[in-house]
Amino acid sequence: MSSLLVLGIESSCDETGVALVRAEGEGVPTLLAHALHTQVAMHADYGGVVPELASRDHIRRVIPLANEVLAQSGTALEAIDMVAFTRGPGLAGALLVGAGLACALGAALDKPVLGVHHLEGHLLSPFLSADPPEFPFIALLVSGGHTQLMRVDGVGRYELLGETIDDAAGEAFDKSAKLLGLGYPGGPALARLAEFGDPEGFKLPRPLLHSGNLDFSFAGLKTAVLTHAKRMESAPCDQQRADLAASTQAAIVEVLVKKSLNALKNSGLKRLVVAGGVGANARLRDDLNAACAARGVRVHYPELHLCTDNGAMIALAGAMRMQAGIEAPSRQYAFDVKPR
Ligand code: KG4
Repeated sequence: MSSLLVLGIESSCDETGVALVRAEGEGVPTLLAHALHTQVAMHADYGGVVPELASRDHIRRVIPLANEVLAQSGTALEAIDMVAFTRGPGLAGALLVGAGLACALGAALDKPVLGVHHLEGHLLSPFLSADPPEFPFIALLVSGGHTQLMRVDGVGRYELLGETIDDAAGEAFDKSAKLLGLGYPGGPALARLAEFGDPEGFKLPRPLLHSGNLDFSFAGLKTAVLTHAKRMESAPCDQQRADLAASTQAAIVEVLVKKSLNALKNSGLKRLVVAGGVGANARLRDDLNAACAARGVRVHYPELHLCTDNGAMIALAGAMRMQAGIEAPSRQYAFDVKPR
């Protein structure tokens, strides 16, 4: 394979993303252009994502975003070699928008299309950073729907080492933020409030911290936050709210750091990749960086603007799967999506 120009489309939840990457030979693909529209403001009034509104907005945005990417990179539509789209997991109606456009473009241009797993996009996204990782590595995948530790030996060679048995880390951030009366999305809001609080202000559980395996559980933490938040209702105090936010963040981060270190130790690997929306959390980054530096482990993150959902990671994953010879180009335009 010499050169491959891949258009990537992401529409699994509340971000519409389109991007163009070029893969040359075996080298790490380069990002030529990307465009993103976030629906955060639209869903904020409802306190969470409204699936039908999400689908309708993807429909409104996706073609203008694709045009923007082509214009930004000075690329003619006909020059695209392949279209990658998020097949799942995500909201069915939202996924169908990206899949529909990808397959319509593929059919019109007579070019192959490729459905990509959303989490594989997150997992490989640090390859678009200035300091890309090398295989093998341990990956900590922390998003709104997933919390997983994986051993990654190459593209498509993933071994699940542990995952959450109930809520995801992002969900723990979001639900705790809601209990504290913070807006949507809760993770960044809670992190901002935590800056003013004492992380030891409240004693909160660290579920499964010493379980001996690499699984996570955050449901009990949420219940503890609920208990404290309820107590606070009778005598609201800004400092106490900030302390509870800081304590919640500290509890989530401590578990994520400890389990990541255990995974590194068990595997003997010296590289960690952190991906997914929660990977944008500054406290998580600081604590992981410090703990890993002390153990001679290098930590790789996606560029901050590529931590949350985006089209670049989908174009990249599609290109890397082709480079690895995992996928044969497909002209099956009778597409489907896999919400779960
Ligand atoms: O990866 P992502 O954009 O979407 C999913 O595929 O789930 O992750 C979204 C999650 C949300 O739960 C959001 O609250 C969380 O990432 N998040 C954060 C931060 N930024 C985003 N959580 C904590 N601190 C942040 N700075």
